[in-house]
Amino acid sequence: MFKHLQQYAGDPIFGLNDAFHRNTHPRKINLTIGLYYDEAGRIPILPSVAAVERRLVDDPAPRVYLPMEGLQGYRDAVQRVVFGADSQAVAEGRVATIQTLGGTGALKVGADFLKGAYPDSEVWISDPAWDNHHAIFGGAGFPTRSYPYYDPATKGLAFDAMMECLRGLPSRTIVLLHPCCHNPTGVDLSREQWEEVIAVLGERGLIPFLDIAYQGLGDGMEEDAYAVRAMAQAGLTVLVANSFSKNLSVYGERCGGLSVVCGSESEADLVLGQLKAVVRRIYSSAPWHGGHVVAGVLNDAKLYAQWLDEVAGMRERIAQMRRMVHEQLTAKLPGYDSAYFLRQRGMFTYSGLSQEQLLALRERHGVYIIDSGRIAVPGLNSSNVEHFTDALADVVSVVTH
Ligand code: LMR
Repeated sequence: MFKHLQQYAGDPIFGLNDAFHRNTHPRKINLTIGLYYDEAGRIPILPSVAAVERRLVDDPAPRVYLPMEGLQGYRDAVQRVVFGADSQAVAEGRVATIQTLGGTGALKVGADFLKGAYPDSEVWISDPAWDNHHAIFGGAGFPTRSYPYYDPATKGLAFDAMMECLRGLPSRTIVLLHPCCHNPTGVDLSREQWEEVIAVLGERGLIPFLDIAYQGLGDGMEEDAYAVRAMAQAGLTVLVANSFSKNLSVYGERCGGLSVVCGSESEADLVLGQLKAVVRRIYSSAPWHGGHVVAGVLNDAKLYAQWLDEVAGMRERIAQMRRMVHEQLTAKLPGYDSAYFLRQRGMFTYSGLSQEQLLALRERHGVYIIDSGRIAVPGLNSSNVEHFTDALADVVSVVTH
């Protein structure tokens, strides 16, 4: 019955992550997937998370189904973290929020919801993109297109080209944007640039869909949410997919949220109903355990403060690795401009390395970077960063000299 099907080529990120685990190089380094590793190369269990998990074990509760929209305390926490404690849109009851299966689940629910509301729209995604954006929106039945984003010449933002493209889009076009820590480039907009984008989104009647999976790992928990809050403040109708996978280190618990900022409380009620309907027909309800863990941390003043410190620790370690790479490459490869390691934000850096260089890194040095040249910086630590910069210096000098 199924012999006619095509072989799945595998996911470019998960596939290489698997290949890394099969490699036997003694000094191999995994810079493939967007996972935060600590200084010892481990995926941390945050003490704030462990504290809530202990409570859940000591005082066990029945694992009932959560409501389709998720746990109330979780949804309130999503709104506080993403929109800020003083959000006017939240206070006015204009934000419909649900608990989702990670950020990916939020994108999928949002995509299906939008397909019902605006079936003829196109979805425009940054070039380059997190590959799954095209897959998720394409899978929901939307044609997907790309707007200019990254300029390889400067390893920065192609802002003028991006704006020109956005200005030409028809009303009700869906525009996928990353408020911070752009995946895959690490190239973010400045606040002034966001203001210009917001003006065009409003003028053209576009529908922004914000994907914020790395909040807190760029400049700070509040700072990273600037674009989300500025759009809500500007009165735009906006969808926001957020993830706690990285900033709470709860990847496999699948903890995310989807929020839709609406024009009024009654519109938000309508939207919430449609989001529940989408959830019911895909997976019925979100996970109990992850929901209670996240809500437990974010709704306890002491644990919340502790968590902010834990996230700051992750953020500072990433920044420290960026500085170390830059410093070492400046010494090892004087002709190579590695300042992009300092300029780009969050977990990812877009290296512009060629396929030949990436292959040489894997085969000669056991350094795994995905084919786009995106480097997941938290795979580095003070024990392996020398090996990384030696390897990079080797492949860059072989190919350029
Ligand atoms: C990544 O981009 O590496 C992460 O967001 C993990 C994923 O799901 O691809």
